[in-house]
Amino acid sequence: MKIDGVATRSLWPLADERGVGVIDQTRLPHMVAKLELTTMAAVEHAIRAMQVRGAPLIGVAGAYGLALALRADASDAALADAHRALNAARPTAVNLRWALDRMRAAVALLPAAERSAAAWREAGRIADEDVEINRAIGVYGAQLIAEVHRRRGRRVQVLTHCNAGWIATVDYGTALSAVYQAHDAGVPLHVWVDETRPRNQGLLTAWELAAHGVPHTLIADNAGGHLMQHGEIDLVIVGADRVTARGDVCNKIGTYLKALAAHDNGVPFYAAVPSPTIDWSVRDALAEIPIEDRGGDELRRVSGLNAGGEPAEVQIAPPATAVANPAFDVTPARLVSGIITERGVAAPAALAHLFPQPAAE
Ligand code: MRU
Repeated sequence: MKIDGVATRSLWPLADERGVGVIDQTRLPHMVAKLELTTMAAVEHAIRAMQVRGAPLIGVAGAYGLALALRADASDAALADAHRALNAARPTAVNLRWALDRMRAAVALLPAAERSAAAWREAGRIADEDVEINRAIGVYGAQLIAEVHRRRGRRVQVLTHCNAGWIATVDYGTALSAVYQAHDAGVPLHVWVDETRPRNQGLLTAWELAAHGVPHTLIADNAGGHLMQHGEIDLVIVGADRVTARGDVCNKIGTYLKALAAHDNGVPFYAAVPSPTIDWSVRDALAEIPIEDRGGDELRRVSGLNAGGEPAEVQIAPPATAVANPAFDVTPARLVSGIITERGVAAPAALAHLFPQPAAE
């Protein structure tokens, strides 16, 4: 996608394979600052601190992190340590584990001298595949939006939660890929953007949509149900951090409440899901998906710009206030109208038909 008219990816290899460049997402939407990550430790920190975030993007960043680790030490022990450390940086989005497993499989049988170069190439392949997957998701998602337009004969009202846009992936985004491609095809639409407390990823979504010229309105997280009751929302499209074979959708905290409200109001609820986000091994989403528990200061403090336009943070709850901050929730498959993948749109129960899995031994 473009920043100030210049085609940009959210992560790119640096010259001479020194590492990767990323957009520091903790500085958005107020400033586009770029970071150079040249060690595994820097990548791990960037993922943990959410300088890079979004399930697909942390998978790709993790892959490059592993490649950088192998450059420093290509032994079996270093490979295992790097896999463990990077995987622990953010536990819920399965894309990170998926990418690290794929990287390990790509290099494990190679002699140590060949591992680093092979890992760098594999990370590049994962990044390029992410772009193609998200482009394809957008094609199918845009067809859904266009169909709503045909039926209703007026501007389509989409609600989204968190940021499933191009900066949450290498390019295009997942949920927003559908929005961008429908908009580019001339389908009139407007996006209601959930603010997404506590980290306000909705501000990133609003920033992306503004840059692409897509009409949108930022709303408080609690406004969605009210808007649905008043017929202001035609469909909900969110991203996902882990989806089970049964079609249960784990995504940013608050997604479940939106799905409940959508169900109560007959509003279709879709999740846009690249195949690396599907965890075929999970049977019971509530019991088995680890939900990241983030620090209390994300709720007690709010950051933005002060009156002078400088970055500033304010305390909104006393430091001693007890805080619970689960970062993700699970929307059961029964509340999900469809899952938009790079192979088409499936009812949750039919997801496995799109991605036949090898029979277990
Ligand atoms: O905690 P974050 O900001 O990394 O969470 C991101 C989300 O929940 C997104 O909706 C999800 O990763 C899909 S990204 C295409």
